Amino acid sequence: MDFQPTEDQLAVLNTAREFAQSEVLPKAAEIDREHRHPAELVKRMAELGFLGIAVPEQWGGSGLDHVSYVLAMEEISRACASTGVIMSVNNSLVCDPINRFATDAQKEKWLKPLASGQLLGCFALSEPEAGSDAAAQKTTAEKSGDGWVINGTKNWITNGPVADVCVLFTMNDKAAGHKGITAFILPMKTKGVRTGPPDDKLGIRGSKSSQIYLDDVKLSNDHLLGEVGQGFKVAMSTLDGGRIGIAAQALGIARAALEDALAYAQQRRTMGKPIVQHQAIAFKLADMATEVDAARLLTLRAAWLKDHKKPYGKEAAMAKLYASDVANRAAREAIQIFGGNGYVTEFPVERHFRDAKITEIYEGTSEIQRLVISGYLAKGQ
Ligand code: CAA
Repeated sequence: MDFQPTEDQLAVLNTAREFAQSEVLPKAAEIDREHRHPAELVKRMAELGFLGIAVPEQWGGSGLDHVSYVLAMEEISRACASTGVIMSVNNSLVCDPINRFATDAQKEKWLKPLASGQLLGCFALSEPEAGSDAAAQKTTAEKSGDGWVINGTKNWITNGPVADVCVLFTMNDKAAGHKGITAFILPMKTKGVRTGPPDDKLGIRGSKSSQIYLDDVKLSNDHLLGEVGQGFKVAMSTLDGGRIGIAAQALGIARAALEDALAYAQQRRTMGKPIVQHQAIAFKLADMATEVDAARLLTLRAAWLKDHKKPYGKEAAMAKLYASDVANRAAREAIQIFGGNGYVTEFPVERHFRDAKITEIYEGTSEIQRLVISGYLAKGQ
């Protein structure tokens, strides 16, 4: 077992850290306060090759591995969790399934601009009545001539209001259950596609999400992603990788909470000494640091398994389950360490607290992660 990053991985880490600290962090509070999509940071991430990190260079990506992706995601999310999830969705939920399931012609047309950041993507699986029960898709795709007509509504679609391209899931044969689900590559400018107003959210307020309404949207067969009826497998296998990205985002939020709390505890004095010298505070920091490390190891293990073409679904679910739990606990403890200052927007930890919550919900709630993990255990895996 080798815990030493490669030269390439270290280079990504250093580039991401420098970018996050000098360009992202100074804007994080304003992005949150203004609920602003950080278009200029997305552009910079494209220039740095962070929007298609694990996509082969042939298809416009950086040709790196998923360990590098985790390292970069942690750094960027440590600075701004909203910017982190914009990056994560484009990498894990858009570029990854197109890379794995699209034809070469589709990769030429869609993956090249998405992985290089000329276009931004979103992933539309969730619906008003299909959240955790992803197979209960109500958006219909009906065969019409040599193409398809799509109708339905998608919910909480991260990047929805700012995306150019959508990986869309539809039901084309209800009787077939999950085997009746089909995926498409949908250009967001297609006639009949409309996005609702951006969701007004507790946290990650710089990440725009919305409903997507699909009214008689016509797509030709060359927009099919994978085979007809293969959509549920496209979605589930994509979410396995997505959960590594969200684990890394949660890890970044947890580290932000730890680092901010430690810095504060070193300068804030009570009863004649810095509060870090009070054991009640020092032990909180020790627990936070230990849990952040454990979350990082779980997340890197899942990424390493994916890079080495080994099964990683259970490990990705474990990483997301644990890292999101750690992010929430660390943010809560950080507020406690800041005391009254933790409860006001002048300091960053209330933002970490609000940003952390979503990591227990999207790309599969913590309850779904437990379902996935226990499913593997029941099969002896
Ligand atoms: N990879 C490939 N195939 C898989 C798979 C995987 N990880 N998991 C399941 N499958 C296959 C199974 O093998 C099975 O195939 P067969 O019938 O051919 O054997 C089929 O899918 C059905 O499997 P299940 O019976 O286990 O499926 P289920 O209906 O019981 O659902 C679930 C399982 C885990 C609960 C799933 O519905 C799920 O993951 N739900 C959560 C959905 C989710 O994460 N949504 C997030 C939305 S995206 C988002 O949040 C993005 C964002 O905004 C940032």
